[in-house]
Amino acid sequence: MSRWSLLAAKAWTSCLLAAGVLASQAQADDLSRHCAGDDVSALQVRQEEIPKVPSNESLSLQQSASQSQMFTELDPVMRMIGNFLRLPYPEPNQQIRMNRPLIFMHQAKSGGTSLRELLYNASMRKGWKPYIQCYGAVGCQDFQAPKTKAAVYAGHFCWDEFAQNLHHRGVNEFSCVTNFRKPFYRILSCYSYRAVGVRKDAPECMAKLSPDQLRDVLIQVGCVNEPFRRLSGECSVISHAGDFSSQARSEVWNSTLRNLAQCVPLFLEEPQSMKVAAAYFPQLSGSFLSLAHVSLNENTKYNAKCNIPESHYNVIRELAKSEEMLYATAKRRMWHLRSKVASLLEEEPQDH
Ligand SMILES: *[C@@H]1O[C@H](CO)[C@@H](O)[C@H](O)[C@H]1NC(C)=O
Ligand SMILES: *[C@@H]1O[C@H](CO)[C@@H](O)[C@H](O)[C@H]1NC(C)=O
Ligand SMILES: *[C@@H]1O[C@H](CO)[C@@H](O)[C@H](O)[C@H]1NC(C)=O
Repeated sequence: MSRWSLLAAKAWTSCLLAAGVLASQAQADDLSRHCAGDDVSALQVRQEEIPKVPSNESLSLQQSASQSQMFTELDPVMRMIGNFLRLPYPEPNQQIRMNRPLIFMHQAKSGGTSLRELLYNASMRKGWKPYIQCYGAVGCQDFQAPKTKAAVYAGHFCWDEFAQNLHHRGVNEFSCVTNFRKPFYRILSCYSYRAVGVRKDAPECMAKLSPDQLRDVLIQVGCVNEPFRRLSGECSVISHAGDFSSQARSEVWNSTLRNLAQCVPLFLEEPQSMKVAAAYFPQLSGSFLSLAHVSLNENTKYNAKCNIPESHYNVIRELAKSEEMLYATAKRRMWHLRSKVASLLEEEPQDH
């Protein structure tokens, strides 16, 4: 590594270290001023879905920092992140087709349901064959690799199984988009939607659980480390992304970053990412650009009477740590991709 890039990597490390323990808008704003040029502050989620963030922040920052030795400059994952940020960019796909399809690796509770519908509608208009969970003949529970070839795939798939399946069908090249959302809010939303709504095994107000019970519920229902579960190839409900065993953790990070390098990351909170996707996939530019008007799911409204204690927020921050780090990394990559397609962004996109 050159002297310059080592210094740059160090500056970025401190930005990432800070990003890993943040949850409030104020903190993130502060951070984005430190990390000039890196928009780590995109937290514009609708107000009613965010429970009041407690004011006593210093406590949680201290606790988070002392509970873990991860993401120090000696951490091998930090080196991987540095490698990842220098990997070649994926190529734009101007002609999506069955032999070079687009895959939307849908991270749950991150606003992707609307994109599935937009992609399905666009495919229908264009006469393409889609394979999109919950649309056409594809069931909402069809998580397995598809049985047919398609031009556009979308769902909560598992990377390795999916890529192998395409390979068996003679498809060795595909494009990818995946959707990120600020992890702290994604996990909150997952609690309401999955633990309370779908599984019905958790109280609507998480304050009724002890912090340990909350941690168990979030892990058991698969609300933790979603992007690693989609991208690493390790498809189990419980990801090893935050393990103390460095071997397992490194493998998950390595494969996640390798696969993420092939994707255009979308951030519902960051409309620029939609423009990047629109430039990468001009045939679907209208679909990506309309995402800017989509608001996040409605099912996360919080009962004003539910006062969530600081201890519970700390559980969520702690569980979100690896995902926060990946989120900040993916965001950085998105800005790199944006500079690659900057010239294309000048043109007014069409979607016919
Ligand atoms: C923050 O919490 C700690 C520990 O509970 C407490 O001692 C301290 O007074 C609190 N600070 C503020 C500003 O509320
Ligand atoms: C992942 O591991 C492979 C093989 O050891 C290595 O070549 C590659 O650089 C690693 N990826 C990252 C992002 O560090
Ligand atoms: C998709 O098409 C259906 C049927 O035409 C329409 O009702 C729906 O609003 C469209 N969805 C989006 C997100 O444009």
